[in-house]
Amino acid sequence: MTAEILSTYTAVLFDAAVRRTAELLRAGEVVALPTETVYGLAANALDAAAVAKIYEAKGRPAHNPIIVHVASIELARRCVTHWPVVADKLAQSFWPGPLTMVLPKSPEIPSLVTAGGATVGVRWPSHPFIQAVIRECGFPLAAPSANLSNQLSPTNAEHVRKQLGDKIPLIVDGGQAQVGIESTVIDLTSEPPTVLRPGMIHEESLIAVTGDLVSFQKKKLPGDETLRSPGLLQQHYAPKARLLVLNWQNGTDLKSAISNQQSAIRTCHIIAHTNIPSDEGFASVSVIPHDAEAFARAIYAELHRCDEAGAELIVVEALPDAPEWRAIADRLQRAAA
Ligand code: TXA
Ligand code: MG
Repeated sequence: MTAEILSTYTAVLFDAAVRRTAELLRAGEVVALPTETVYGLAANALDAAAVAKIYEAKGRPAHNPIIVHVASIELARRCVTHWPVVADKLAQSFWPGPLTMVLPKSPEIPSLVTAGGATVGVRWPSHPFIQAVIRECGFPLAAPSANLSNQLSPTNAEHVRKQLGDKIPLIVDGGQAQVGIESTVIDLTSEPPTVLRPGMIHEESLIAVTGDLVSFQKKKLPGDETLRSPGLLQQHYAPKARLLVLNWQNGTDLKSAISNQQSAIRTCHIIAHTNIPSDEGFASVSVIPHDAEAFARAIYAELHRCDEAGAELIVVEALPDAPEWRAIADRLQRAAA
């Protein structure tokens, strides 16, 4: 199979892509489409056979639950048995947007979506294309990131094509993802709520709404509760190359740090934001602006590019310790694991 690729950059193309996507989804197929965080691999969330195709295309382990995407509060409420006041408040503040809320699942959602669990993650994404598709279909869309399991999430259609182009019928090109890293996942079934995966909507913003919050990393979990959000535990979000996060003052400093790593300097790709070394001797030096939103938007594409170039080692300049940088630091830490 070779995926058809549809663009959306004019109103006519956009409408045609919505119709084609809806047609395939209604027929129980999977489609890769843009969201504002990363590209998703979508199927009808109410159709277990369609959702099974997501697991198959990604090689995703059956114990990892999939987020369900909606385009209204009404549709979100249909996916869950209980819609607490705090969900309403969070939705008011952050939807549509990069926030996933974990709530008790309604019987209508097949257990394959939730990996057998009693809860479901729901999100109302802000990208206009996925919103239009959900409205056209009338059903919610199960969609994990559109990458092979354990590989780097895609932030453009070309990233998807490289990983899944021979496994799915359609990829919709909706441009570069605006947020660039995956949504914040908050579990509202615990008291206080728990952040299961940090994202660009950071804990300080959430606490302003929820009043109290625990982050998964700080919480002590008994026994197999640690499997609740598998994406948080394993090495994840990883490029093929080895990745290191380092601090340096200048190029000389950086080179001596790398020579301790037994990697040839000329095979190293450097990603900097503040102390920019000259590119002399390195395979490449790229610069992302010292701004958390810009950095999040660009980092996965940079990692994809380094992998494409056959990088052995990617060295990323350490990030500031501030709330808006924490989710990016989290992803880099997993990529380096
Ligand atoms: O931004 C995003 O969330 C993207 C776009 C496509 O929406 N999706 C995404 O999906 O990142 P995925 O499957 O790659 O990551 C979903 C994460 C996983 O770590 C999964 O374990 C967790 O969310 N998750 C999903 N449903 C859950 C549930 N019911 N309980 C706990 N964790 C859940
Ligand atoms: Mg993923």
